[in-house]
Amino acid sequence: MSTWRESVPVAGSVILTPDARALDSLGRNHSLPTALADLVDNSIDAQASEVLIRFVRQSGRLRALYVVDNGRGIGPQEIDAAMTVGARRDYGQGDLGRFGVGMKSASFSQARSVTVISKTRSVPPVGRRWVIDSARRDFSCDVIPVAFCVEEFDRTWRIPETGSGTVVRLDQVSGFPATDDSVRVEKFVTRKILEIRQHLGLVLHRILEANRVRIVLDVEDVDSPYPGPSFDVEPINPFGYIRSGHSDYPKHLVATSENQKIVLRCHIWPGRSRTLQFRLGDSPSAHQGLYIYRNDRLLHAGGDWGGLHATDADLQLARVAVDIDNDIAGLFRMNPEKSRVTTGPEFAALAETAIAEDGTQFADYLIEAEAVYRRSRQRTRSRRTMIPPGKGFGPGLRASIEDEIPLLDREDGISIKWRRFHRDDFFQVDRESRTLWLNDAYRPEPKGERHSVNDAPLLKALLYLLVEDVFQGEYLGPKDKDNIELWREILTAAAKEQSSARD
Ligand SMILES: Nc1ncnc2c1ncn2[C@@H]1O[C@H](COP(=O)(O)OP(=O)(O)OP(=O)(O)O)[C@@H](O)[C@H]1O
Ligand SMILES: [Mg+2]
Repeated sequence: MSTWRESVPVAGSVILTPDARALDSLGRNHSLPTALADLVDNSIDAQASEVLIRFVRQSGRLRALYVVDNGRGIGPQEIDAAMTVGARRDYGQGDLGRFGVGMKSASFSQARSVTVISKTRSVPPVGRRWVIDSARRDFSCDVIPVAFCVEEFDRTWRIPETGSGTVVRLDQVSGFPATDDSVRVEKFVTRKILEIRQHLGLVLHRILEANRVRIVLDVEDVDSPYPGPSFDVEPINPFGYIRSGHSDYPKHLVATSENQKIVLRCHIWPGRSRTLQFRLGDSPSAHQGLYIYRNDRLLHAGGDWGGLHATDADLQLARVAVDIDNDIAGLFRMNPEKSRVTTGPEFAALAETAIAEDGTQFADYLIEAEAVYRRSRQRTRSRRTMIPPGKGFGPGLRASIEDEIPLLDREDGISIKWRRFHRDDFFQVDRESRTLWLNDAYRPEPKGERHSVNDAPLLKALLYLLVEDVFQGEYLGPKDKDNIELWREILTAAAKEQSSARD
């Protein structure tokens, strides 16, 4: 027999504040795009209508990175809490914030110094700065003088003014190239801007689609009087196919236990696709599985089935959207970087019982998704091989042609271009240069100031499907010649009729 006491006695207490070096471990899983997403989350929580992400260049070198918004700002009474690691506020229903660490961990994951300058209506701006070295010594945070806050706040940011807002400035960004070589810097910025647009476009696609916020990226060269180009973040919807792969889908499968309910919104893509919405930036088959959203922010972009099934090449068209809120936290755990969700063992057990109104179960869905994938492969394989589109086709149209048609592996595709004709013919076939020339006289008016080379997509798609065949083979056969005659007569008559109707 041994003695065991149920309660542990104490003889007093000592206060052990965490060592400030604990800051080092913050945000280790962040990349630049996920860190920026965390900062943009804060802007969205602050009801900003616009957010600007800006790279600042001086003497050729990248010097700082800003995230600026026109949201409600942080007041003098709140700024210290906002800078404190782990200080949580009272979160509202749809808030993206949760842990009280996002801004700090996102910033320190990318930079050695973060300055926050913020302004609420009718009071002067306030500012604080964390520099990792002094923060690690004793958590000491710098107070920024009001004059500099005003100066920084009043710089030309490319967002509408609301009288309030927040400027988050990162200095000594660790990933920036240590060079003023303009080619290398240019390359770096171009690649990062693309990565950031893709990541933010994906994780915030619902919020962007609902026009709750606009996000712009730009590069400021402080030595130049001209503003640099700017880029909008466009939504990338991982469920953004044109037509469902199966007419009965998407289906909602619901699973309930005593205190929990989850809804699995099961989708089937129509086939592999080259669109950004399907590829999501990298390998085409890696994005099957669960898409987990919290307050319309995507936390987890596929790649696994949360213990429901193993990933499988035949399931690459299957994607399931799941909305979670804080109440079902027992089933799901998001990482503090908000870039992944892990599911607990109870999730798979509960999800397996999910059922649709028509009786469809999760296993049935997977079987359907697999069948759609097999059929889509057979379909494209049995189609006639065609010459790829060349110049004059926009990326969306090109991707869709590539998805649907097996294409010959050659560099020069069929270009469709406009030029002035001496006659009133609608088109000319130039097999030599693989170009279908269209008569400028019938060109539709441009939407903006100038014509786009990729204009008139509907017309070009129809023509491509119609004439592709005459570009194949060594010679133009009599049948081809007659077809060209026929199309020319009819299409020229149609084009004339259309332009006289317009006049
Ligand atoms: N752009 C901003 N506009 C207004 N307030 C902000 C902004 N950024 C941060 N804050 C304030 O600072 C606080 C701390 O932000 P931080 O991102 O560190 O934590 P959080 O958003 O509360 O939680 P989480 O760790 O989940 O992101 C926020 O709760 C908010 O009050
Ligand atoms: Mg946050």
